Amino acid sequence: MNTNPLRRLDKAMTEPLALMRVCALADIPVQGARRVLTPVGEIAVFRTLADQVFALKNQCPHKKGPLSEGIVHGNKVTCPLHNWVISLETGEAQGADHGCTGTIPVQVSPDGQVSLALPAKAKVSA
Ligand code: FES
Repeated sequence: MNTNPLRRLDKAMTEPLALMRVCALADIPVQGARRVLTPVGEIAVFRTLADQVFALKNQCPHKKGPLSEGIVHGNKVTCPLHNWVISLETGEAQGADHGCTGTIPVQVSPDGQVSLALPAKAKVSA
């Protein structure tokens, strides 16, 4: 049985989700990331040059490098450890590399507040 909430979030999305406000858009550097601790683990919240926001589990699918410390380009991030390129949209490694990290739904409110959609039970138990 898989007890990792992030993996369950990726696989089925059958659990009810709850929004967890994490920061303001202005708190995330353009073409950078902010590391957020949540009840389901460490999440990297990315902001692109076009002000799109994405969230991934903060572990590279190669050897768990901290994606929040990577370089954001387009809708991708390059891992700081061995330069794998990871899609911010799907969490999948690009090019010849194979692997995938968990993605987390993100909402940016009209007033610029960034929230993550996490399993409701995880939020309640925080
Ligand atoms: S840990 Fe990310 S490329 Fe190796």
